[in-house]
Amino acid sequence: MSVPLDGRRIVVSAGPTYEDIDPVRFVGNRSSGKMGFAVAAAAARRGAEVVLVAGPVALATPAGARRVDVRSAAQMREAVFAALPADAYIGAAAVADYTPRHPSPDKVKKTGETLVLELVRTPDILAELGVHALRPRRLVGFAAETGDVARYAQDKLARKRLDMIAANRVGVAGQGFEGDDNALVVYWPGGERALGPAPKTELAERLLDLVFPD
Ligand code: C5P
Repeated sequence: MSVPLDGRRIVVSAGPTYEDIDPVRFVGNRSSGKMGFAVAAAAARRGAEVVLVAGPVALATPAGARRVDVRSAAQMREAVFAALPADAYIGAAAVADYTPRHPSPDKVKKTGETLVLELVRTPDILAELGVHALRPRRLVGFAAETGDVARYAQDKLARKRLDMIAANRVGVAGQGFEGDDNALVVYWPGGERALGPAPKTELAERLLDLVFPD
């Protein structure tokens, strides 16, 4: 039996962000957006008011969710903060950690044998929310790691002041970015639960069960 979420407002971020180098090139992350869209769909089905802040992905908007399309990390930050206050923020987006310092208004021409691109850190949306006056009561992050999953995830849980973090190992066949299935380990202060391998739609339901136990 899943807990109804009528009257709850949930903000979900999903997909990658693209950081423009010039009008035809960008720096981005591999992310299909499927996990975040599945969470948004499941929350809307349970009656929540859902704002889905989506990076550039080719996915249909889940029924009942209000979708805000963004491109860059800076735009995602704006849209997430504009959607507050909320009962929960579920940050499933693969936000770029760095963005070009000087995006070029014109196409960069192929001249030298090497090209140095200077990148600067993007705002960490999740970490900012952790210390914000309007911090959602349930703050959930995702962590995609290629190794040492438990250690990095627990470190992020503490450092970003989260209530929960859903970690997955990437670079393993049948798990992670583009597929329809995944396996997660969800950590919270003092506990953990392994979910899957299962379809992302199923994982979304189980994750919501943990975020909203009653
Ligand atoms: O530190 P790392 O990027 O691995 O943390 C992943 C989590 O932090 C995800 O929930 C992601 O949405 C969030 N994040 C963010 N802003 C960033 C980078 C990551 O909100 N600039």
